[in-house]
Amino acid sequence: MPKPLENKLALVTGSSRGIGAAVAARLAREGASVIVNYATSAQHAEAVVQGIRSASGEAEAVGADLGELAGVKTLIAAIDGAFGGKFGGRLDILVNNAGVVDYGPFLEQPDEAYDKHFNVNVRAPIALSKDAGKRMAKSGWGRIINVGSAFGEAAPLGGVTLYIATKFALHGFTRGLSRELGPLGVTVNGVQPGPIDTELSPKEGSDEHAAMVKLTSVGRFGKVNEIAAAVAYLAGPEASYTNGENLTVDGGWNA
Ligand SMILES: NC(=O)c1ccc[n+]([C@@H]2O[C@H](COP(=O)([O-])OP(=O)(O)OC[C@H]3O[C@@H](n4cnc5c(N)ncnc54)[C@H](O)[C@@H]3O)[C@@H](O)[C@H]2O)c1
Repeated sequence: MPKPLENKLALVTGSSRGIGAAVAARLAREGASVIVNYATSAQHAEAVVQGIRSASGEAEAVGADLGELAGVKTLIAAIDGAFGGKFGGRLDILVNNAGVVDYGPFLEQPDEAYDKHFNVNVRAPIALSKDAGKRMAKSGWGRIINVGSAFGEAAPLGGVTLYIATKFALHGFTRGLSRELGPLGVTVNGVQPGPIDTELSPKEGSDEHAAMVKLTSVGRFGKVNEIAAAVAYLAGPEASYTNGENLTVDGGWNA
């Protein structure tokens, strides 16, 4: 039986670990050829690629720091030559997953933190979506999926104000772009995770971790695969009528 994403090229940013790695593996399992983007950890990205290949999937790693516009350009340039150029410059699925957060009181944030958060969490998805949107419009089919956050529509905790500002921005970008690309055959949606067990989230045993568990109604952090499943749905054929949605997968956090 053909897989739902066979002959599709997918790009997942920041996929050398965490949610991105799970998304890359899941999309590959569904048949997509996956570009695994990483900023600095080539070794981890290679491990993700090897994991996909050993499950008979297709993947290759591309290093590009998305905090810099030059890195965004490097990643865009890699799309043309991906998998020996067999997709002819087409890109079918873009998952804007890379993200950063610094925890701490807003009044103590250094000025450099503004660009750090906004460049990776907002500017890179915007710049990549512009290039991807053109490629997808040309082929008449595409999926852009932005990994936002439950912090993209509510602020139940302090200490992550800049991060919240970026995720609200990404949420709005998803909605706005869906209006423009929907008529061209391209859907634009978001997934908004609640607290998920990764390097980015507070460690188990910390006060922050306990506070986040309390905000869920299921009483636990989520697993990366629970987010990958939501991304796979939005990337797949069954989501053809879903556009401009920010799908919340947060254990009841924002209920
Ligand atoms: N873990 C959570 O609780 C949680 C909750 C809500 C939303 N999210 C979002 O999910 C996404 C993935 O986060 P995660 O939890 O897997 O965290 P993570 O820290 O494990 O992964 C983040 C990924 O982004 C990459 N990245 C960071 N800066 C980059 C840069 N300049 N260029 C390229 N890649 C870069 C990292 O290398 C890493 O692979 C992020 O957008 C995050 O905001 C996470």
